[in-house]
Amino acid sequence: MKYLITGGAGFIGSNFIHYLVEHHPDAEIVNLDKLTYAGNLENLKAYEGDLRYTFIKGDIAEPKVVNEAMNGADVVVNFAAESHVDRSIHEPAAFVRTNVLGTQVLLDAALRHKVKRYHHVSTDEVYGSIALNSDEKWTEQSPYNPRSPYSASKAASDHLVRAYFHTYSLSATITNCANNIGPYMYPEKLFPLAITNLLEGKKIPVYGQGQHVREWLYVEDHCSAIDLILQKGKPGETYFVSPDNEPVSNLEVIKKILKLMNLPEDRIEFVADRPGHDEKYALDNNKIKRELDWKPKYSLDETVRLTVEWYKNNQEWWKKIKDSQEYKNYYQKQYDVLK
Ligand code: NAD
Ligand code: DAU
Repeated sequence: MKYLITGGAGFIGSNFIHYLVEHHPDAEIVNLDKLTYAGNLENLKAYEGDLRYTFIKGDIAEPKVVNEAMNGADVVVNFAAESHVDRSIHEPAAFVRTNVLGTQVLLDAALRHKVKRYHHVSTDEVYGSIALNSDEKWTEQSPYNPRSPYSASKAASDHLVRAYFHTYSLSATITNCANNIGPYMYPEKLFPLAITNLLEGKKIPVYGQGQHVREWLYVEDHCSAIDLILQKGKPGETYFVSPDNEPVSNLEVIKKILKLMNLPEDRIEFVADRPGHDEKYALDNNKIKRELDWKPKYSLDETVRLTVEWYKNNQEWWKKIKDSQEYKNYYQKQYDVLK
């Protein structure tokens, strides 16, 4: 089986490539990635010289390179995206280009190359925001209501995927997933930012009062769900992927990190809130469990512990990023104004 993985040098994409190699050793893998600030070939060093793996540097919004990369592919899994909400508030244009136009270019190529399956990796954020005092959980039938430039661009891409299924009978599936954490996550998002700041002796910048609520999934569980959908999922269907534990506030998970690292709560620094900050995300994961017999392997405590351990044990990986001028510029732009 030949897989085209787009965005395979990023956080979830590189974890998925590791997952494929481990669970399908005969898989042939092509990784098409633009190597934006978030793409990192160090995540895939293990496959340098491995004949089963090919890396192509390129943009999913460029038809020529996409067509070359897709040649002979049986399956396409699209992870390539601009993925950070805060950056989408500063610079929405890149999100529209990659997440919307890039998806459309991939879909056109998938039709032309008659791929057996196109899988689109999306997010719970397209459904909007649940009130903090509500126990509601979204289902695959919930209406779309994106509220950030990031989630709006992801919503548009989901609609395009469904349009290509209905109009051109493209064999496509979609997953909308909760917040992932684990190895190789760029240290701009809450978990890696918090852990690495603590390891550097700094504080954790917490937006508002840390009251916002999320679900945290260990990235390997996301990978197992996508792999299962590629094998057993029904074309045209959307599947939610989320952990079994209840959603938790940012403050609660940050306290778990501090406890694991034996650090006091005065390492929390409350800063100004994110504009339009979604209060809560919560997914009902019954469909994928019922129809495909998927279940997450990791509890919340294991997920947090494994993530803390990875950043403790891989300081060279994240220090190189944090020492880069790109990262320093971003940190200054995002955080210096919030204090
Ligand atoms: P990431 O930012 O870590 O990685 C994105 C990758 O895409 C990078 O390697 C980057 O170089 C590449 N890329 C960006 N623009 C590109 C382009 N135009 N052409 C080719 N490659 C390009 O993102 P992630 O956290 O791994 O997210 C992967 C996917 O999963 C995204 O679609 C995201 O919306 C979705 N998702 C993420 C989470 C999460 O918690 N991180 C949760 C649910 C869904
Ligand atoms: O829900 C899935 C989404 O999860 C993915 O689609 C996105 O790609 C991914 O970035 C993530 O989005 P969030 O906005 O939920 O993740 P982030 O890590 O940026 O923030 C998590 C929560 O922590 C959110 O409520 C904002 C808050 N936060 C974040 C940062 C970076 C802080 O309080 N301080 C921070 O410095």
